[in-house]
Amino acid sequence: MSDFSDKTLPKDSERLDAERFRTALGIFPTGVTIVTTRDGDGEAIGLTVSSFNSVSMDPPLILWSIMRASPNLALFEAAEHFAVNVLADDQAEISNRFASPVADRFAGLDVTNGVGGVPLIGGSAAQFECATWSQVDGGDHLIVVGRVLRFHASDRNPLIFAKGRYETLGPERDLAVSDDVWTVKKG
Ligand SMILES: Cc1cc2nc3c(=O)[nH]c(=O)nc-3n(C[C@H](O)[C@H](O)[C@H](O)COP(=O)(O)O)c2cc1C
Repeated sequence: MSDFSDKTLPKDSERLDAERFRTALGIFPTGVTIVTTRDGDGEAIGLTVSSFNSVSMDPPLILWSIMRASPNLALFEAAEHFAVNVLADDQAEISNRFASPVADRFAGLDVTNGVGGVPLIGGSAAQFECATWSQVDGGDHLIVVGRVLRFHASDRNPLIFAKGRYETLGPERDLAVSDDVWTVKKG
């Protein structure tokens, strides 16, 4: 028997066509981020994530979701801190690398430590250093909400992902933002 009752689905509904569903969702353009943390041995951990979004201004909250099948699920479930590195438009190779089974995804990257030691990837368009705020059931994903403790914005253009491809913004979209790191004061 299906998990779905007649109340939640129209009578003539078909079984979900996963490929078609993924294609429809992929029409919505997103940025591309590398979400990072450290494991118990201090090893840098990270994966490519496009499910990042803003949630709240006060307190400053963001969210992203991780596949429950990820070998890194338990690490992020336990992590007190994590960072969201918003990739710049010349970092598509980093996106591909952190979405593939590569032995050392951080090899050769300019990595510095943020709050709680979270790995910050040099050249990112923006970075958000977060404390884990809450975790919410998201079906086959876990939704992670983070409270932003520090952030950094540059005037680099973001990498964009839409319809299964990387895209870039035109040069006219440059924002004149200062390259400072901002620390969020506790309200
Ligand atoms: C553009 C793009 C966006 C992605 N977004 C997510 C995401 O939001 N959440 C997620 O769990 N995986 C996402 N993935 C897939 C993971 O990056 C990929 O499965 C990776 O291998 C996960 O690493 P892990 O198996 O070491 O956890 C995305 C991949 C790409 C290329």
